[in-house]
Amino acid sequence: MNANPGQMAVADVTPNNLEAFWMPFSANRDFKANPRLLQSAQDMHFTTTTGKQVLDGTAGLWCCNAGHARPKIVEAVQKQVAELDFAPTFNWGHPKAFELAARVAALAPAPLDHVFFTNSGSESVDTALKIALAYHRMKGEGTRTRLIGRERGYHGTGFGGISVGGIVKNRMFFGSLLTGVDHLPSTYVPAQQQFSKGQPEWGAHLADELEKLVTLHDASNIAAVIVEPVAGSTGVLIPPVGYLKRLREITKKHGILLIFDEVITAYGRLGTPFAVDYFDVMPDLVTTAKGLTSGVIPMGAVLCTSEIYDAFMQGPDYAIEFFHGYTYSGHPVAAAAGLATLDVYKEEGLFERAAELAPYWEDAIHSLSDANRVIDCRNLGLMGAVEIESIPGEPSKRAYNLMLDCFEEGLMIRTTGDIIALSPPLIVEKSHIDQIVETLRKCLARAA
Ligand SMILES: Cc1ncc(COP(=O)(O)O)c(C=O)c1O
Repeated sequence: MNANPGQMAVADVTPNNLEAFWMPFSANRDFKANPRLLQSAQDMHFTTTTGKQVLDGTAGLWCCNAGHARPKIVEAVQKQVAELDFAPTFNWGHPKAFELAARVAALAPAPLDHVFFTNSGSESVDTALKIALAYHRMKGEGTRTRLIGRERGYHGTGFGGISVGGIVKNRMFFGSLLTGVDHLPSTYVPAQQQFSKGQPEWGAHLADELEKLVTLHDASNIAAVIVEPVAGSTGVLIPPVGYLKRLREITKKHGILLIFDEVITAYGRLGTPFAVDYFDVMPDLVTTAKGLTSGVIPMGAVLCTSEIYDAFMQGPDYAIEFFHGYTYSGHPVAAAAGLATLDVYKEEGLFERAAELAPYWEDAIHSLSDANRVIDCRNLGLMGAVEIESIPGEPSKRAYNLMLDCFEEGLMIRTTGDIIALSPPLIVEKSHIDQIVETLRKCLARAA
């Protein structure tokens, strides 16, 4: 027993050795020299181990759409872990996985009526790519193996995801990646789109670049196109008006599957259940994660049409139809968290709330257009980005320092390159939005 219980309490919350944890996508050395350790969270705020309150401007990592430590979700998880902590879903099952799949399918527009569970966005992406490849083979079109992504796309960190993704640092260290991948150009062309409110008017024709790739590779070799409806992780790049519809027309014309990676946009971020609803464009597959459980327990879900699902339902009844899955696909505790999260979204009308707040959010984001260093502001739903000019020769440093400064001022932001990405929980109040903008303006004013 510790002779000094007070000291023990501090030691409980503040580890004195940070070395062992190799932090993901982080500046490990800088963090470990000046750690920002979060101890607890409630609704819109984190509290650090030193007792500092930090407003969550990013829904954690684009995931805590219902806010933090929401009682209904907490209770559901606690109850489930005591009742059924684990159940295999390979040739076994448990009721909540089926219930959640049905609920997710009911939330989505009609053609998307089957759900494959994963544990993350990266796994959802790899799952969707594998479904696309196997689907064509099942249909007797096994030459369709090529996958098309997009420059500045982020589809997680699996080999499939980084291959179709378009972020050089995420790709350049990892060898030859998947073969047979090509990329569309990014939809973001600042000279034509800077300071657009909502969707830029210019750029629908960028979808026609797909026709060039079809001419180059031939449609008979192309399995799928995967894009984020709104690119989130590379800095909130909003699709031009008409772009996604055009992409759908071209993919359909050539028998190519269209995958929307909605890991960020699903579950209310745009004020609708899915971006599919917002843009009124129907892909063949949708990848989701994050907001499915409001980030409480890792879980992802891939939605697909009956046409795709049915193509797999062949052969003898006792045989496995799709050789893919994860130990934790449809995990009972994650499923319980997902069900409670969907309840919270519905009972509190959080998607509608996001839609109602979107105009206020748009004005708030664009009010920073004259702030120091700002070169672009972008927004859609409750997503926003403020791009700042880079320090010559030191890309991302200015935004990184701004993130540190905002933390000192009690605000969590996310930065990617020299872009500040914002995506508050959907329970955000106008006063929080004001605080986000005021803090950013203050920190930008002194950004060296
Ligand atoms: C569009 C998109 N796809 C995939 C992922 C990967 O998700 P995860 O980090 O859960 O693997 C992300 C994460 O931000 C994402 O934004």
